[in-house]
Amino acid sequence: MDNVVYQTAPARVVFGPRSTDQVHDEVGRLGRSRVLLITTPAMREAAARVEAQFPPGAIVRFDDAQMHTPVKITEQALVVLNAHDSDVLVAIGGGSAIGLAKALAVRTGLDQVVLPTTYSGSEVTPVLGETADGVKTTRSAPEIRPETVIYDVDLTLSMPVGLTVTSAVNALAHAAEALYSAQANAVTDALAVRAISAIGHALPVVVQDPQNRDARSELLEAAWLAGTCLGTVGMGLHHKLCHVLGGTFDLPHAATHTVVLPHALAYNAPAAPGVMRRIAEALGVPDAPSGLHDLISSLGGPTSLATLGLAEGDLARAAALAAASSYPSPRPVTEKGMRALLTDAWHGRQPGGGRRYPGAELRQLLAEVEGSFGDTAQPRLHALLASLVRHLHGYVAENDLTEAEWMAGIDFLTRTGQMSSAKRQEFILFSDSLGVSSAVDILGNSRNTGTTPSAVLGPFYVEGPPETPQGTDIGAGLDGVPLLTEVRVVSDTGEPLAGAVVDVWQSNKDGFYDVQLPEVEGPVLRARFRTDDDGLLRYWSILPSDYPIPTDGPVGEMLAATNRHAYRAAHVHFLINAVGHQQLITQLFPADTTYLDSDAVFGVKQPLIVEFTNPGGSTPDGREIAGEWRRLDYTFTLARVPAVATTRTSG
Ligand code: BEZ
Ligand code: FE
Repeated sequence: MDNVVYQTAPARVVFGPRSTDQVHDEVGRLGRSRVLLITTPAMREAAARVEAQFPPGAIVRFDDAQMHTPVKITEQALVVLNAHDSDVLVAIGGGSAIGLAKALAVRTGLDQVVLPTTYSGSEVTPVLGETADGVKTTRSAPEIRPETVIYDVDLTLSMPVGLTVTSAVNALAHAAEALYSAQANAVTDALAVRAISAIGHALPVVVQDPQNRDARSELLEAAWLAGTCLGTVGMGLHHKLCHVLGGTFDLPHAATHTVVLPHALAYNAPAAPGVMRRIAEALGVPDAPSGLHDLISSLGGPTSLATLGLAEGDLARAAALAAASSYPSPRPVTEKGMRALLTDAWHGRQPGGGRRYPGAELRQLLAEVEGSFGDTAQPRLHALLASLVRHLHGYVAENDLTEAEWMAGIDFLTRTGQMSSAKRQEFILFSDSLGVSSAVDILGNSRNTGTTPSAVLGPFYVEGPPETPQGTDIGAGLDGVPLLTEVRVVSDTGEPLAGAVVDVWQSNKDGFYDVQLPEVEGPVLRARFRTDDDGLLRYWSILPSDYPIPTDGPVGEMLAATNRHAYRAAHVHFLINAVGHQQLITQLFPADTTYLDSDAVFGVKQPLIVEFTNPGGSTPDGREIAGEWRRLDYTFTLARVPAVATTRTSG
């Protein structure tokens, strides 16, 4: 699991039939007794049930809560609250009553006990939207979030069927967007899947039988779970679109959610195939966006923005507004994409321009391919192949890959293979330039603490370099700044390793290895040494140079197409073998070389960057040098071979 910060809202939830009768106890639990009861006239009956629980004079009712929480109404309610000296707010209703309770809470600091009668989730968020002089402003603060939520299914039995559908899809939207939220985590994932599955199951039952208490209860529980997702993780594209359509074009909240959600899911489907699979499975449909669209239309819910009152001429502005601000979405949001999405939603078309996302077929295909490896005898091979096809299929699905794109990829790989030979390792270069070689190196060689980090071997190593006595100049008189290398090879115990075999190779001052230069009779700037009794090795060469990796093949095309340079930071290669120790393949980089931050093969590691000093004056071995010379000192620490060899298993 990725890094997760999970913070739950401190709200207390009381869920169950007839829980309206517990308002008095819950108010007492908060240490309060003088209630301002906020409702709308439609909730008169429930309000009376609450009033009956309190002694005369302890409760005063304000039942003029209105949509969009007008500040004018909040001020009227404040007068009532002050006159009565209320010390707690109780709200029964949907967005209007809960919005007013939040508006009063943020002004007075009073606690809130809310009894939601829709599935909107407002009761669990710290967000308040208010209107003054026709302008809506939204704010978020911890004290806005109600302290206690009472979910009583009885309060939802009379919800009209139309509102039931749109409100439940509103809840479903919270769960769906939680699944691909940047903050998604194990807790909200589980809540979201359960909420979606409950809505998919219970909503058709309620539409057939609006008084069905079990199904109503299931929907209310789903609203609670989905609301918890809404209150815990950030929402994405769908909520942004609904915000634009509601805020700028005044479309009704829940109905807008209902029309937009299948289209927002279709837009994100290629970038979040796993999430779409979970939604589809939870709803029991083959494909999430079209399955949801079909479910909504079979239940008589709205499927077109035109029927909600949006003018066709406003689509371009809505698309521009939706694309203007940045917010998290699995698939990058473009104005063109929003225009297509909103146009489909306006006409009431099938989501995704009527093109169905073949998620079920893709899943079936992958299952067949994975199954085809079922008889593989070696468990590790089985695991690697199954994982490979999962990632390849995921790559194809996630990017909605076209045949032309796939064939271009195949052509690239084919040419990479055709160019590869014993002398030209274009495939290894491809792996290097994608950072894959370094990833494998990190996994295999960075598990020992306190030892020298490794780095990629590269294509210029030649097996079996000539054994060379210590002190030799392997530069063979080549032009360049003389470099004296003095290194020590020690064990991770700190003990010097005598007789360690150290292969070294490096570029010349122009960045070429001997094997790249037909005119050079090698081996030059490459040798095999042995450490002395103190684990020491001393030899001369010249300063290496940065150099480009070969660009005359497919890898070069890739670098050009992605505007990447081809250079490696200057370095010297070492391959060290010592008895009883793990082989170390590594490189040392002069601290003053360029490209340390952008090495073309991602081979640089901080501990391998070394000052190649400029001591001046005479050399320690008395070699006469007219001009500048440099010195490289380093200690290589090798890991001991573990006493009992361990192998990685597919476990
Ligand atoms: C090298 O350091 O020699 C090298 C490593 C990876 C790719 C190309 C060159
Ligand atoms: Fe190199």
